[in-house]
Amino acid sequence: MKPVFVLNGPNLNLLGLREPAIYGAATLKDVETRCRDHASSLGLSVDFRQSNIEGELVSWIHEARDKASGIAINAGAYTHTSVALHDALKAADLPCVELHLSNVYKREAFRHTSLIAPAVNGVICGFGTESYVLALTALHSIIIANKKG
Ligand code: DQA
Repeated sequence: MKPVFVLNGPNLNLLGLREPAIYGAATLKDVETRCRDHASSLGLSVDFRQSNIEGELVSWIHEARDKASGIAINAGAYTHTSVALHDALKAADLPCVELHLSNVYKREAFRHTSLIAPAVNGVICGFGTESYVLALTALHSIIIANKKG
């Protein structure tokens, strides 16, 4: 099976250092390891990436069309601003799950709007690193259901 792309947006390279009271102590490398372990327990493989550049994320979503079986995306702040990511996710025509470490609905009002949510199957937020694990489980369920259907 093609890998699942796990895409991370701006500032997530600073996980572990950045506002640990909100985002926790785990580094992005720790998150990647957790994703790889969980994915392999589900029989999936992951292609795990991070970029601070909106256009690079758009290009990776285009690449996923042919090379991935699904996308789990923590788009960071671009979640709240990016029509380009919304359009790319729609065009990807793949199972997609949006995720966040923090519960964005408990935070500033500008985080309460996601421009990408209408382009994905579902949204997981507020469970720290576990949000990635839950997103992979959800993607796996969708991929399996699509194969049966
Ligand atoms: C985030 C939430 C976003 O609002 C924020 O801009 C981030 C991280 C999260 O994982 O909780 O960079 O996506």
